[in-house]
Amino acid sequence: MVLNRALILGTLALTTMMSPSGGEDIVADHVGIYGVNIYQSYGPSGQFTHEFDGDEQFYVDLEKKETVWKLPLFSRMLSFDPQFALRNIAIMKLHVDFLTKFSNSTAATNKVPEVTVFSKSPVMLGQPNTLICHVDNIFPPVINITWLRNGHSVTEGVSETSFLIKSDYSFLKIKYLTFLPSDDDIYDCKVEHWGLDEPLLKHWEPEIPAPMSELTETVVCTLGLTVGLVGIMVGTIFIIQGLRSGDPSRHQGPL
Ligand SMILES: *[C@@H]1O[C@H](CO)[C@@H](O)[C@H](O)[C@H]1NC(C)=O
Ligand SMILES: *[C@@H]1O[C@H](CO)[C@@H](O)[C@H](O)[C@H]1NC(C)=O
Repeated sequence: MVLNRALILGTLALTTMMSPSGGEDIVADHVGIYGVNIYQSYGPSGQFTHEFDGDEQFYVDLEKKETVWKLPLFSRMLSFDPQFALRNIAIMKLHVDFLTKFSNSTAATNKVPEVTVFSKSPVMLGQPNTLICHVDNIFPPVINITWLRNGHSVTEGVSETSFLIKSDYSFLKIKYLTFLPSDDDIYDCKVEHWGLDEPLLKHWEPEIPAPMSELTETVVCTLGLTVGLVGIMVGTIFIIQGLRSGDPSRHQGPL
């Protein structure tokens, strides 16, 4: 416990020291968002989260009425009463019901989500890795993100974040897939959202350098040798020239 605290204090001190300071803009060292409440009539569905520096600390499972910490370490040091989230969501529901009537049931405007897929670490065949599907600019927060391996849906090794809030009130969601890179497997992150006319497939496959053919190897080897020999010749000529111009009798004209 004491060690944990010391470790965290150490990390904070380091971050503060490294963060840019003294500029015209005030730069925050850390940003905690303690209570993102989402409620929507679709479903209906809701979400309650705490975020710190853009990472999810926990969400409240509104069905099971329990707090789910993203890092087990947090749950050993902190606690959060899920009833608080349930009360907030109930108030949000009243607001949404009122605003729906007030706006004559005008639906929210759909944004077009932006999807990027990349691997957590550089890909090496046979080395376990994680694929990351980063979906930005989500609004409203209703979305299906699924992984496809060779065109078939994958459910094992899959996890995702809650909807993380952005400064423009759109959302970000990240879907993970642990996988073993192989020559034979290709992947797609499939995104379904009302802002898209049809499901969007973001393709990913491991980039493994093609093995060189024997001819290519010979050509590269010969080229290398030639360049090397030319280098030696040119170098020798320069050395000879340098020795000659070092001769004082050859210095002419004003210095
Ligand atoms: C909703 O409809 C009522 C009656 O048709 C109208 O008076 C009111 O201005 C409308 N409100 C909005 C926000 O469009
Ligand atoms: C997500 O998938 C479910 C089940 O297939 C479907 O009913 C729903 O319309 C999908 N949501 C979106 C936003 O496309």
